[in-house]
Amino acid sequence: MEKIRIAIDGPSGAGKSTVAKDLAKILNIDYIDTGAMYRAVGYKMLQQNIGLDEADRLSKMLETTEIDFAKGNIILDGEVINDKIRTQEIAKMASDCSALASVRAKLVDLQRNMGQLKSVVMDGRDIGTNVLPDAEYKFYITATAEERAHRRWLELISKGDLISQEKVLEDMIQRDINDSTRLLNPLKKAEDAIEIDSTKKNAEETTAIVLSYIK
Ligand code: DC
Repeated sequence: MEKIRIAIDGPSGAGKSTVAKDLAKILNIDYIDTGAMYRAVGYKMLQQNIGLDEADRLSKMLETTEIDFAKGNIILDGEVINDKIRTQEIAKMASDCSALASVRAKLVDLQRNMGQLKSVVMDGRDIGTNVLPDAEYKFYITATAEERAHRRWLELISKGDLISQEKVLEDMIQRDINDSTRLLNPLKKAEDAIEIDSTKKNAEETTAIVLSYIK
């Protein structure tokens, strides 16, 4: 089978990861969740109490950081951290640390290596514009901020988090601003990406639309 790389970008809560996971299963290729990689770095920074302005400590930490995916798990330095990185605190730290050049350089390098060896579906913010600019397929999935916040809120309360929907919306709008206004590879639709608005669609409908473009 010829190698295909599918890039899926868009703001948080637009449904990228659900669609990307479904596609990976249907096409029997690997799924790389690049947001989880930024969350892993944010998690490690919090664990080691490294501030965003501590460039030297951060560089040293990044040199010895290993991030990998295996059997649907994200592994940081040998530890499965799937659930530990799905909190609002880590989401904020991921967004903050993703603006730092040293963090982006390390993770983009890892992501490009992952996309070089095999067929992948990769989701994030800068996949079509920067990580895999020559990907065979590029999609940009959006939804209104209210719909995205509602979805994220349902996810959080199902895990026992008692956060209000208003707070989730507020955090999401702030993160949208951070992610799309940072200097380095901000969230942006690639010119050649197909845009899909998932506001009034469920995950299966969105996946079906994406699949209809893939030959
Ligand atoms: O998709 P997510 O919410 O798990 O991503 C967490 C943060 O990581 C997000 O706020 C922005 C950052 N990110 C990025 O800068 N570039 C990517 N390719 C993926 C995520």
